[in-house]
Parts: sequence; C-alpha cells; structure tokens
Amino acid sequence: VTRATDSSSEQTSSRELLVDLSGAPRGGLGLELQRRLRDAIRSGRLRADAALPSTRALAADLGVSRSVVVLAYEQLGAEGYLITRRGAAARVAAVHPPAAAAPPRRHAPEPARPVAVDFRPGTADLASFPRAEWERAIRRSLAELPDAALGYGDSRGLPRLREALADYLGRVRGAIVAPDHLVVVNGLAQGLAVVARLFRRRGIDAVGVEDPGSFHTASQLEVNGLDTVGVPVDRDGVDADRLFRQAAGDARHAVAGPLRAVLATPAHQFPTGVILGAARRRRLLAWADLVDGYVVEDDYDAEYRYDHQPVATLQGLAPDRVLLGGSTSKTLAPGLRLGWLVVPPHLAAEAARHKHHIDLMTPVLEQAAFAELLASGGYERHIRRNRARYRRRRDRLLELLADHLPEATVSGEAAGMHLYVETPTVDEAAVVAEAARRGLLVSGIADYRKAPGPAGFVLAYGHLGPDQLRRGVQMLAGVVREGTSGS
Ligand SMILES: Cc1ncc(COP(=O)(O)O)c(C=O)c1O
Repeated sequence: VTRATDSSSEQTSSRELLVDLSGAPRGGLGLELQRRLRDAIRSGRLRADAALPSTRALAADLGVSRSVVVLAYEQLGAEGYLITRRGAAARVAAVHPPAAAAPPRRHAPEPARPVAVDFRPGTADLASFPRAEWERAIRRSLAELPDAALGYGDSRGLPRLREALADYLGRVRGAIVAPDHLVVVNGLAQGLAVVARLFRRRGIDAVGVEDPGSFHTASQLEVNGLDTVGVPVDRDGVDADRLFRQAAGDARHAVAGPLRAVLATPAHQFPTGVILGAARRRRLLAWADLVDGYVVEDDYDAEYRYDHQPVATLQGLAPDRVLLGGSTSKTLAPGLRLGWLVVPPHLAAEAARHKHHIDLMTPVLEQAAFAELLASGGYERHIRRNRARYRRRRDRLLELLADHLPEATVSGEAAGMHLYVETPTVDEAAVVAEAARRGLLVSGIADYRKAPGPAGFVLAYGHLGPDQLRRGVQMLAGVVREGTSGS
C-alpha cells in the first residue's frame, strides 16, 4: 500500500501536475484521476522520476477524499506508471512514449491525375462478386457449423472444402486430387510460401520461372529464400529444351548446379497468354523426371477459355511431379485470400505442417462459405456468367485495338482477362509514363521480363466496361502516336 509522505521539497503540486477533475462524474472520480495521470505520464508531461504530491495534498487540492488518490496511486503503481515505496513520494516511472506514426507507404507511385482507366492486370471484375450468394453461403455455414468447427482445426482446411475442391478440380480441371493431398491456403501467394519450404528442405534452392512471367509469384518464392532463374517463353509456352540444356550443364544457363524445379502457367501463360503445347507438356515432365524434380503449376485463370474447352492441368498427367496451385483471386475476388495447393502424396504431411507453422489455418467461415458455393453449383454458375461477360469485353478490346492501334501484334486472346500487345517500335517506358500522367494506368511488358525483348503492353479488360475500354484505347493510341510521330 502506498503512502506518499508530505515531506519532499521537490514534490509536484496538483497544479503542476495539470490534473483537473472538473467535469468528471462524481461517481467516477477515481477512474478519471487514474486516466488523467496515465495520460500525463504517457505524453511526457510528467517526466520520469518526478515526485508526485502526497496523497493528502493532492486530495485536498482536488477536493476529493484521500482514498480516491491512494487508490489511483496504487493502481498506477501496479501498472508500472509510478514507482511507489512506503514512506517515500511516488515517482513517475520511465515509460516509452508512443512513436510518431510513420507516413503510410505507397506500393506504387500515385498518378498525377485521377485515374481515368486502369488497364493493369491482376484482378477479377470485382463489381460482379456474387454478394447475395456469398451472403447466403455465410448464413448457412453459420447455422450449420458445429461449435467445434470454430476451434483450431486441421491445418489443411475444412474437410468439406477439401472434398468439394478435390471434386471440382478433378471434374473441371482434369486434376487427380485426393482431399488429403490438398491444403487450403490464403491465396497462391501463401501456397508458394509452403512450396518454398518444401523445396528448401529438399536442397532445392533455385526455381526456374517463366520469362516473361509474373513478378508476383517469382518474388513470393524469392522472399521465401529461393533464387529464381528466368526460362524463356516462346509461342508454345515455357521452353523445356532450355531446362534440358541447363541440366546437361550448359554454362550460359548454369546457376549453382542444375535446376530441379520450375514454376509455370500452362493453362494460360502469364503474361503472353500462350497455352503450353502438348509436346511441351510431355517434355517438361520428362525433364522433371530426369532431374528428379518438380513443376509448380500456377492454374491462375484457367477457367476463362473462349475458343474451346480449357486445357486440363499438367498435374493430371503427373501427380507425383506436379504441385498444383490455384485460387479464387481471378474467379471471385483477391480479397477473399482463398486458394489451394495440391501436392504429391509423399509431400502432403509436410505441406500440412508448413501451413500449420505459417498461420495454423485459413479462416474457417470463409472456407465453409466457399465449400457451400462449390457444392451448390453457385461457383460454376458465377464463372459461366463472368466468362460470357469477359468474352464480350475481350471482343470489344480486340475491335478497338484493330481500329486505333492497327500496327500492334495482339496475342493471348484465347483465354484469360488480358491481352498481350506488342508494339516493337514504341518507346514503352515513355508511353507508360506519359499515359500515367494523363490518368491512364498501363503495364509495359518490361515489367514482366528478366531478359530484354520487344516493347509492348499488357492490357487487362475483365474489369472494364465498354466506355472505359474505348476511352482507354483512345488515350493509349493518342500517347503512342505522339511518342512516335516526332521520331
Ligand atoms: C500469375 C499469377 N498467378 C496467381 C496469382 C494469384 O495470386 P493469389 O492467389 O495469391 O491472389 C497472381 C496474382 O496476381 C498472378 O499474377
């Protein structure tokens, strides 16, 4: 119990303390005094080591009973704000003032103008998110999930979601999936964190990545401790022969020994949009056998194929060599952070352990709602609706490009949500910068390359209505003309 004495000559008076209880409710004086003293100490108004007035003096000054002050000093002593010793004045303890908030960091430079059109790839049409169906699925899940399901569960994910996903991936993507070999993850980004851990444990510390390719997925491997090595992409997809040559010790491509893993987007290469040819598929798997390695298959927007049925997964050809990753980022919304990783059976237990160590498990209500959407057929209905919508937008963008940028070579139109537009005579960086100044956000191909190559742009259309598409292409063509007319 604290009893500060009245004797110390250096003691602060209540006026110096700047504690004023006027306006405080009579019944809450004690709590209010504690709060104001605490604030004064935190803000630095009361400096470390300053001696407080005696309980008697402060009570008299404030017009409260002494027990109110005694209790406040005791409480702040217990919390570490005051140092209290019997027979001595209570002193202010050294506390760390809160650091000034750092200015928020921006991921990308803000354009000088308001954004008129954003052609950058990476997202579904968020306006078409099936809100009503998702709400119903969440309600039903809340009603049906037993209490136990809200606890720490299986790190691989809710059994009913793993079963529904195994069925969906088998039926729609031609994959060979047992629910026990599938881990629900927070987007492919986290799937790749699991992959990186699996690889490092096997002495694989470099992964081949497509060039051009996704810097998102490559950097996910890099931040998880792996080197990435560019493997060229041509009209047939990732060049498996380069991997064979690299395995045979071609010095130009040798890193620290032969590669044993490659990350690829066979269904629709990002960003060129080419589909990995049948012969290349076999070659890639033959290479994986040769080096006793793995292919990581990023099935990122396989659902959107416009000319004929989507090509089935590589994983279905070699479930022991291929790790298949996918997510709802391109079908529902990236903000859900819901994805899956299917691993060969001999890696399944370890993959579950890595997921457990990363974050124990993926949020369970979202998993249950997604399982509900898969089981009800709502997920596939949503994809069908969006496929028709994206196809119309793709057709419109192709027409606009033919009218306004006829010199461009367009590819990747058979699938996905973006076009790959090559314009070799254009100063890509200058156009991207000038377009941004005018409020048109566009990605140059250079953003996705490791090795140099022809100039051009990646134009996403899935999230843009007809007016925005027209305005965007007109603006882009305007900047291209101005940039090339003077040269
Ligand atoms: C090539 C590619 N694959 C997959 C994804 C999806 O990643 P996530 O599932 O973590 O949202 C992206 C994201 O932009 C991507 O560019």
